[in-house]
Amino acid sequence: VPPADRATGTDHPLAPAGEAGLARRVLAAFRERTGGEPDGLWRAPGRANLIGEHTDYNEGFALPFALDRSVVVAVRRRPDDLVRLSSLGVGEVRLRLADVRPGGVTGWAAYVAGPAWALAEDGVAATGLDVVLGSDVPVGAGLSSSAAVQCAVALALDDLAGRGSDRTHLARVVQRSENVVVGAPVGLLDQMASLHARRGNALGVDFRTLAVRHLPLRPADAGLALLVLDTRVAHAHVTGSYAERRRACEAAARVLGVPALRDATPADVAAAAGRLGDLLPVARHVAGEDARVLAAAALLQRGDLVAVGPLLSASHASLRDDLAVSCPELDSVVGAAAGAGALGARMMGGGFGGSAVALVRADDVAAVTVAVLAAARERGFPEPQVITVHPDRGASRLRLPAS
Ligand code: GLA
Repeated sequence: VPPADRATGTDHPLAPAGEAGLARRVLAAFRERTGGEPDGLWRAPGRANLIGEHTDYNEGFALPFALDRSVVVAVRRRPDDLVRLSSLGVGEVRLRLADVRPGGVTGWAAYVAGPAWALAEDGVAATGLDVVLGSDVPVGAGLSSSAAVQCAVALALDDLAGRGSDRTHLARVVQRSENVVVGAPVGLLDQMASLHARRGNALGVDFRTLAVRHLPLRPADAGLALLVLDTRVAHAHVTGSYAERRRACEAAARVLGVPALRDATPADVAAAAGRLGDLLPVARHVAGEDARVLAAAALLQRGDLVAVGPLLSASHASLRDDLAVSCPELDSVVGAAAGAGALGARMMGGGFGGSAVALVRADDVAAVTVAVLAAARERGFPEPQVITVHPDRGASRLRLPAS
């Protein structure tokens, strides 16, 4: 397969289905499975993160953006207490309303039941539901497909209850769903990106105040491209290590005598090196990463995307060496991209697998793709998937497509 095709993903089953196509398929499946019409269709995108990793739960900063790939859900409220969930790919799960609670549901159904429970806790009367979902967000690639499912369902149920909740409020509801029902101690990065992002922009988030701002991120206008490099590995210890890093960060903040690592500058951390001991690298990562995010935000504001490249590479080095959340497969795609002329590259998300992001000149996309695939082949790693992504808009209600 020619590298250019790989780069655009056109040869791969994970190629973007396109929102309209996906919506039509979800609607057709809903009609076929329920014999009726949904109350509506909603979509929520997966996310990438330009920079700002493991900063969200430290009340720091990040610059995520929404992918041009999303989850689409068709939802209908039922008069009884049955909850019927299915997706284009997976068969039906049937629950009773009484099961829609922490511990009552496992597997992918928790991503649908979780927001229903969290919204009920938030005052939205729970009803039976028919839900059919489809997605072209690669699953298990660290692109927050699970947050996208939960955001789409939460937006649907909030809309159907006529609430029109503030998006930040909804992001917190979805975080509660993931923390309590799914059981993952995640921060707010993924939900904020999926719910707040705007097309052609990165989303600047301050995780203390939850203030957001939109900063231009239109790589094509600058002759550049953003690539997602999916390693296609997910190492088993992800959740445990994530929780461990959170605890280490909290411990480091206590040693520094600050409410959260967000309040420590790189100089504060360096000055407290002796007292921090083993916690020094973790604190150094967070303080340094926050500083890099603020520098990147200023560059985006000025329209100087090229200058963001070195910040991405510095972020990766810090995640690899200080926070120690990378893995050989991520280091391989990042190293190969840099070696083939990428302006910068870094792992994204929690770590230990999933995807990296690379900023490259449009003319170098093919060379970077070839290098990333060759490096993986040489080391006997699974073949990475290289996808060109375009910062897109956050979650929304869709018009029912004409069939
Ligand atoms: C995962 C979590 C996010 C965030 C990142 C690391 O994606 O879901 O909340 O902590 O890891 O930046």
